[in-house]
Amino acid sequence: MTSNLRRLAQADYPRLRQFLVEHWGSEELIAHGNIYGPEQLEGFVVEAGNEWVGLITFFIKDEECEVISLDSLREEQGIGTQLINKVIEEARARKCHRLFLITTNDNLNALGFYQKRGFEIVKVYRGAVNESRKRKPSIPLVGMHGIPLRDEIELEIKL
Ligand SMILES: CC(C)(COP(=O)(O)OP(=O)(O)OC[C@H]1O[C@@H](n2cnc3c(N)ncnc32)[C@H](O)[C@@H]1OP(=O)(O)O)[C@@H](O)C(=O)NCCC(=O)NCCS
Repeated sequence: MTSNLRRLAQADYPRLRQFLVEHWGSEELIAHGNIYGPEQLEGFVVEAGNEWVGLITFFIKDEECEVISLDSLREEQGIGTQLINKVIEEARARKCHRLFLITTNDNLNALGFYQKRGFEIVKVYRGAVNESRKRKPSIPLVGMHGIPLRDEIELEIKL
């Protein structure tokens, strides 16, 4: 089935909330101590028929664009690349001077994915996930690949 990438519209927000709960355990996302509610986020979705098979959300402030979430539900078909490229294009068009994001120390797949697409690691916030866990106890102690989930890692592309 062919897929279609489009910008999130106001009518999509109930579904966005549901998607974030399903994939990130809460409709509010925490990165480096900031809490982002769905109403603050912009995004693009990839649809196959009626199904959301990819979603990226982002937040633009002070000429910086932060990717808040990226999910591909059909991996290794180019959906993640399509979505990140779309946000790079959007951030450039809106005169941002950098695009950045936070991932966690256990997410080896994401660390590889972003670095292969031009992102560089610029900061490590040691123990930041441990701090977030105090506010959101559902964050597990052990993350992907059995790696202790502790740190936030910031990656960026200068635009
Ligand atoms: C990280 C993530 C977004 C990548 O999404 P994806 O849709 O699998 O990404 P792509 O398909 O564009 O690229 C993944 C790989 O598949 C390959 N690929 C793309 N299209 C392909 C195709 N048609 N056939 C075979 N391989 C293909 C790409 O080359 C890429 O490999 P590379 O990184 O070695 O170049 C996805 O794994 C994910 O949702 N992870 C869980 C959530 C997460 O961790 N999000 C990021 C933190 S915010």
